[in-house]
Amino acid sequence: MINLGDYMLVNFNEMLAKAKKEHFAVPHFNINNLEWTKYILEKCQELEVPVILGVSEGAAKYMGGFDVIAGMVKGLIKDLNITIPVCLHVDHGQSFETCQKAIDAGFTSVMIDASKHELSENIEITKKVVDYAHVRGVSVEAEVGHIGGTEDNITGSATNATLSECVELWEYTGIDALAPALGSVHGFYKGEPNLDFERMAEINETLSIPLVLHGGSGIPDDKIRRAIECGTSKINVNTELQAAWTNALRQFLNEDKEAYDPRKVIGSGEKAIKDKIEEKVRLFGTKQ
Ligand code: 13P
Repeated sequence: MINLGDYMLVNFNEMLAKAKKEHFAVPHFNINNLEWTKYILEKCQELEVPVILGVSEGAAKYMGGFDVIAGMVKGLIKDLNITIPVCLHVDHGQSFETCQKAIDAGFTSVMIDASKHELSENIEITKKVVDYAHVRGVSVEAEVGHIGGTEDNITGSATNATLSECVELWEYTGIDALAPALGSVHGFYKGEPNLDFERMAEINETLSIPLVLHGGSGIPDDKIRRAIECGTSKINVNTELQAAWTNALRQFLNEDKEAYDPRKVIGSGEKAIKDKIEEKVRLFGTKQ
């Protein structure tokens, strides 16, 4: 936990333990800039729910780097009087070095995604991150199998995780949460998402840690509820927020051909993002 006087960032352990016990999910929303971060914090504060701010490597690069983001988030928490639990989390960190850099900058949580490697190498890299993170009070999420789709302009094919891979990764590394690839994909789905709920429930019964569902955009509500029943405690949403904001902005620019003030242009997507956040928080049943 990083103490900022009255303002603090937390790791995800407490919020996800409660979510797992009480059968709801905490939203992970990806951030892309100052405005998005502000909208997410304001809306979650209004709804009085904890939130995880996810930062992909591409988004970190876009915004200037992990130090910029940690400073921005801490500043917003202070200046906006945010009192809900906020976790600042690396999304799909590709290497130990990325996670180390984010932790050193003040991130309170990391996802090490070494899922493109063989399981033994995934375990080795993940363990190194866990060792660095845990002594600093930082939580760690890892991935096994491979979540497909497109994120950060990287497209990958999907491979579902097996129970034995999940057990091995968890036992050898001591991770705090696991994202098993079970049919969800990043970006919009082509057709109906096909999630392996039986395996999800089986993994949940075998492992004592919370499960994470990536590719949360475009999954029908009944499947989201089922995933939560099967032990999913953190749900990642990016694409739906991006689309909601872009559609609103496009409409604004089409209607106002004279607009040029960036605050008005960017801000035209605020309501759409905030409405989408509320929809997800209600669906996930998120509580503080
Ligand atoms: P979507 O972009 O499909 O919502 O997925 C987000 C995600 O899983 C981030 O890790």
